[in-house]
Amino acid sequence: MNIRDLYINYFVSKGHKQIPSSPVVPENDPSVLFNTAGMQPLIPYLMGETHPCGTRLCDYQKCIRTNDLDEVGDTTHHTFFEMLGNWSLGDYFKKESIEYSFEFLTKILNIPVERLAITVFSGNDKIKRDEESEKRWKELGINENKIAYLDDNFWIAGETGPCGPDTEIFYFRSDEEIPKKFNPDDDRWVEIWNNVFMEYYKKEDGTFSELPKKNVDTGMGLERIVSILENVDDNYKSSIWTKTINAIEKVSSKKYEGNEKSMRIIADHIKAAVFISADNAGIKPSNKDQGYILRRLIRRAIRHAKKLDIDINSNFEEVIALSIIDEYSKYYNELELNKNIVLDVLKNEKEKFNKTLEKGLKEFEKMIKNLKNNKLDKNLSFKLYDTYGFPIELTIELANEKNIEVDLDGFKERFKEHQELSRTSSAGKFKGGLAGNSEMETKYHTATHLLNAALKVIINNDVHQKGSNITSERLRFDFSCDHKLTEDEKRKTEDLVNKWISENLPVTKEEMKKEDALKSGAECMFIEKYPDIVTVYSIGNVSKELCGGPHVKNTGELGHFKIKKEEASSSGVRRIKAILE
Ligand code: ALA
Repeated sequence: MNIRDLYINYFVSKGHKQIPSSPVVPENDPSVLFNTAGMQPLIPYLMGETHPCGTRLCDYQKCIRTNDLDEVGDTTHHTFFEMLGNWSLGDYFKKESIEYSFEFLTKILNIPVERLAITVFSGNDKIKRDEESEKRWKELGINENKIAYLDDNFWIAGETGPCGPDTEIFYFRSDEEIPKKFNPDDDRWVEIWNNVFMEYYKKEDGTFSELPKKNVDTGMGLERIVSILENVDDNYKSSIWTKTINAIEKVSSKKYEGNEKSMRIIADHIKAAVFISADNAGIKPSNKDQGYILRRLIRRAIRHAKKLDIDINSNFEEVIALSIIDEYSKYYNELELNKNIVLDVLKNEKEKFNKTLEKGLKEFEKMIKNLKNNKLDKNLSFKLYDTYGFPIELTIELANEKNIEVDLDGFKERFKEHQELSRTSSAGKFKGGLAGNSEMETKYHTATHLLNAALKVIINNDVHQKGSNITSERLRFDFSCDHKLTEDEKRKTEDLVNKWISENLPVTKEEMKKEDALKSGAECMFIEKYPDIVTVYSIGNVSKELCGGPHVKNTGELGHFKIKKEEASSSGVRRIKAILE
């Protein structure tokens, strides 16, 4: 039977409810780009909210981790992976959690006890030693020599949030004799399962408070446990990857042996790209956030396909993607449902990159021939990015293959300058374009100021404009905010804007010195882009903003304001689309 099913069946038999995997792109958490662990979508419940499925949950969760993207290509790193997880939300704690893990590994998966070893939290100056876990493992027959006590056995997803001491289970992955004493630094011991006892919440100031309930959060990486059970020394040789590696061998007419690195990168990156683009969030390759990761994954895969002499004008990416969809659609039906979208994303991005890849590679060769030292300067890496669409990480990889360094800080600097320039020019376009615009657009411009002011009242003063776009049909407004607006917040925002509209507030215009405008508390998006004398528009005493205009004379002209959509725009930024009826 498949490991996912064995796992779920086991935990269901212990009173757990199976919950579906959440999307890889978090639905309600703009603070992270991707789900990186099974617990991520459960944070509100670990913090005390009641879960509709009860207090014992289990699942297999799609995860994406991008911090080790450049490591992909070895035998163990994967961008996309699945995490088998079980949770207790204030239900059982250490004793049962440890017993379940032990029983599942030794009785269901039949792993010999001698191959297992354990780490336990040794305590630190803030949180005490985890004596209970130690005791439980010993009761189950784990020898003292196979337990290591570590002070970093403490798990948290990021900087703040629910967290706690953990106990990790290791497996001896080698044909050599099993050492009597466990040494967690010996690479032959690999971590297979992590049981976190979430009792604390780490606050921004670094202190801990107790959570309302003691929870258990466990996670076991599917790819690793499968490769262990199948006794392969390279994860990509396990059955999870067979179809995909076969597809790559077919499209390249080459064998895996001898071409491992490029084949692993292609398999891994296309798999992650398939899962990202199959999500309902509708992520498309772009130059920011999830879209940028998607672009990097696809472009790096294409470059490695080229290294394997695959005809990149063929439909190779489709053959590979279909092998992935075939492997996973039984467990993730969105792959089948969104198959055409996924294939289009891959094909379009490939076509886009193919136009410049060849020329870019030639340009790169030319650049490195003319290098004075072994460093690629910022203007060259920026040219590869801007003219040929080479993500900087791709340039770094190309350069490293030739022992050339890339001035990354310099690139970032150039990149920032470029962004500021294009922001200024789009701000200019926006202003200029508006001058001759229709009556509706003028109304939307004033409504945007009211919306900005209302959000500050309803949400908080940290709301700031991050972008705006107006057509004669609607306004679109991006603003900083750390959460999805609730129905209540949306309604209150609408009501407040409509109240101000009904009050027939006058819209007035004044010219003043930039410093004075700022002192008076006027809102503004890019202060450094404004001339010394600026125009400030005020609406009654509810809004004051630096702006080029034009605006209506009185809010009474606007009609009825309605929010049509509220969604994530990027990390920490929300987007509202609204109309005037
Ligand atoms: N959340 C824990 C982990 O990801 C289980 O390791």
